[in-house]
Amino acid sequence: MIHLNHLKHALVLPAQSNNVGSLLPSPPSATRRVVGAGGRRQSMPRISCCSATEEVGGVSSLTVEKALTVKGTVEAAPAIGQMYATRGLDDFSDLFGKTLLLELVSSELDPKTGQEKPRVTGFAHRTLVEGRYEAEFKVPPSFGPVGAVLVENEHHKEMFIKEIKLTTGDDESTAVTFDCNSWVHSKFDNKEKRIFFTIKSYLPSSTPKALEVLRKKDLEALRGDGHGERKCFERVYDYDVYNDLGDPDKNPAHQRPVLGGSQQYPYPRPFSEVKQLTFGATTLRSGLHMVLPALRPMLLQKELCFPHFPAIDSLYSEGIPLPTQASLDSVRSVIPRVLKLVEHTTDNVLPIRSPRHGREFAWFKDEEFARQTIAGLNPVCIQLLTEFPIMSKLDPAVYGPPESGHHQGAHRDADKGRLDSGRGPGGEAALHPGLPRRVPALRAQGPRAPRHDALRLPHRLLPHGSGHAHAAGHRAGAAQVSHAAALEARLHAPGPDATGAWLWKLAKANVLAHDTGYHQLVSHWLRTHACVEPYIIAANRQLSRMHPVYRLLHPHFRYTMEINALARESLINADGIIEESFWPGKYSIELSAVAYGLTWRFDTEALPNDLVKRGLAVRKEDGELELTIKDYPYANDGLKVWDSIKQWVTDYVKVYYKSDEDVAGDPELQAFWDDVRTKGHADKKDEPWWPVLDNRDSLVETLTTIIWVTSGHHAAVNFGQYHFGGYFPNRPTTIRRNMPVEENRDEDMNKFMAQPEMTLLQMLPNQMQAIKVMTTLDILSAHSPDEEYLGEHAEPSWLAEPMVKAAFEKFCGRMKEIEGYVDECNNNPELRNRCGAGIVPYELLKPFSKPGVTGRGIPNSISI
Ligand SMILES: [Fe+2]
Repeated sequence: MIHLNHLKHALVLPAQSNNVGSLLPSPPSATRRVVGAGGRRQSMPRISCCSATEEVGGVSSLTVEKALTVKGTVEAAPAIGQMYATRGLDDFSDLFGKTLLLELVSSELDPKTGQEKPRVTGFAHRTLVEGRYEAEFKVPPSFGPVGAVLVENEHHKEMFIKEIKLTTGDDESTAVTFDCNSWVHSKFDNKEKRIFFTIKSYLPSSTPKALEVLRKKDLEALRGDGHGERKCFERVYDYDVYNDLGDPDKNPAHQRPVLGGSQQYPYPRPFSEVKQLTFGATTLRSGLHMVLPALRPMLLQKELCFPHFPAIDSLYSEGIPLPTQASLDSVRSVIPRVLKLVEHTTDNVLPIRSPRHGREFAWFKDEEFARQTIAGLNPVCIQLLTEFPIMSKLDPAVYGPPESGHHQGAHRDADKGRLDSGRGPGGEAALHPGLPRRVPALRAQGPRAPRHDALRLPHRLLPHGSGHAHAAGHRAGAAQVSHAAALEARLHAPGPDATGAWLWKLAKANVLAHDTGYHQLVSHWLRTHACVEPYIIAANRQLSRMHPVYRLLHPHFRYTMEINALARESLINADGIIEESFWPGKYSIELSAVAYGLTWRFDTEALPNDLVKRGLAVRKEDGELELTIKDYPYANDGLKVWDSIKQWVTDYVKVYYKSDEDVAGDPELQAFWDDVRTKGHADKKDEPWWPVLDNRDSLVETLTTIIWVTSGHHAAVNFGQYHFGGYFPNRPTTIRRNMPVEENRDEDMNKFMAQPEMTLLQMLPNQMQAIKVMTTLDILSAHSPDEEYLGEHAEPSWLAEPMVKAAFEKFCGRMKEIEGYVDECNNNPELRNRCGAGIVPYELLKPFSKPGVTGRGIPNSISI
């Protein structure tokens, strides 16, 4: 805001652009990407907070005897890839200085009339600097603080405005900055001017009087009227359902159920329309559409399995030969990060980076199988068994007696201390009726814990056979999924002889495939990507851009709607990569819908509640959590991150909400939460577990949960995908052949007895599936060069409030400490799940990372 009414005092400048930026040094080349509708951003230089010295929110003074001359500078950028068809016309208007009409709005009402003071307007004209426009305003002394700028875009196309800065004289230090980073529609499309508020945050009740109408008007525009077709220039946020995964008009086999809005297929709602994909989404799309076809001719036997294990290894040592240097160059230009770039290479070879996990047959060993269950890519499903045998909840009429081996080991053993890599409470209930449940029971190794003291469990696991190891079903793979009711299930145990040992390996491969599918569709896609989208839509619809909660959550929502739109188009679509390569096949997304309906609840998405629910942590009398398994890296590191986020959110909330009544009485906040519950997660709107935002603790827990899911949870299940799954025998995505049957000694069994390794290869994904998945996982596991990590960069509005700025600096400090703490744990020989000979350290919750496939780093948001 600018105070212009004190003749002997300086300009009041609570907003300061130079303070925008980071508490960590950023690479000089770091830029921000363009994002899509509403939240889209153009590349802009990042300024490090470390170099900022000016006080934000301070008051400076400037004397004026008469109308003050204020300079407005607009930094704009054309859309990437968008050529203005009417550029000539716009250039013409630029020349005459009629490019952007700016209107300064006072945040004070006229004391005489009680009405808004007359706005001060000025046209911004193009300067010699590309993308920069300047305006001059004559501001009367009685104008008071500037609370908003309205922009009318005189061009024929929308413009991306990065920021607007108001200065007096040449003193840059007194500048007021509007952090826009948004597209502004052409006045020829929509005559309503676009509203930008200053970076000072206000609860609705403390909105400056003169801005109240604008605050409401802006939100009304963002919500739209819920009717009519969206125009490309509109910035309306609305909910939709998943109804575009297949196009049955083109191919009847691509008919897929509508997800969301029915009891059979409940689902979180997606955004109705994403206009423009981000850099990351575009890269993914390019990778899938250009690289994979380029590779196809190279895979002469693409539908066949690899002939032997050395052929798989040669992918990493020798790469994939391409027909010409040109084809290699084109692949490299599209997704350079897929390549393990080799200097001076002259061969037309696509090198494949070597994943960290699974090579050298480590995955064959029970110890490694178990270690990856608790310290691997899907550590969010494992749970403590509280009953044994597990009684199935599936329909006995279809699946047989609940205690039968069809469902779980029939062997009775009441000991506690078993762990089930099951699928949350209800286990099999998470699966679609018609999908078999195959879950390994894992038994704690070593002396068993006393039954009354579950906290003293040994801290390592081994898969357990002898009737407990629920096997990998007798048959598996996408082909049998739809005929599951007719399946026979079977238990496998570690065998005492060569045959038994090999069958045990095959059984473990089956289990891994099912875990991989569940990880991708539920732990990753559903619980992070899909479930977060409603929070984003609701925040954009119901929280003003000047609302402190909007500004707290904003960095955690970056690019998510765009990457989700791309996933619906190219990954989870009918016959897309997921259906083609993962075992649930055409039922993939249905599986996630059923899992959502039966297992998802907001309150247990909070890490502490999730651990307690799964029996892997116990809440002591003093409220502290104690881990059931101490050497459980996801929980151990995750709780550090959770606590750090929660402290930051607590500090932030206290700055703006002075009492519980402030929370309960915040109409925008209540509308936001109501939208999340009744619209975005409408299929669960009547569940009793939704938190009520009527006090500050509840608000802190809710916001921490949202931020945890977008950051820590997503990082833990996303950025290790290549290193754990890139060597696909370590985490096969599907099983293409049935288990051989011992008793009947059928043809399969005879082949197995002669060449067990070949039977395993025939079970594993074929060449095309393997290469597609490998390429996709590589892209999904990569941090982009402009990734923003948790606790790294402050929003301009955070820096504008000294108490928030101080809290954020502490948050940043804690995240740096966690960085060192994770290293310490990985070097602690007592923690054998993350430290030992040949053990890859657990770094998925290590906060910061370089760009690329690093297997570490917690980004703020779900952007890939
Ligand atoms: Fe992801």
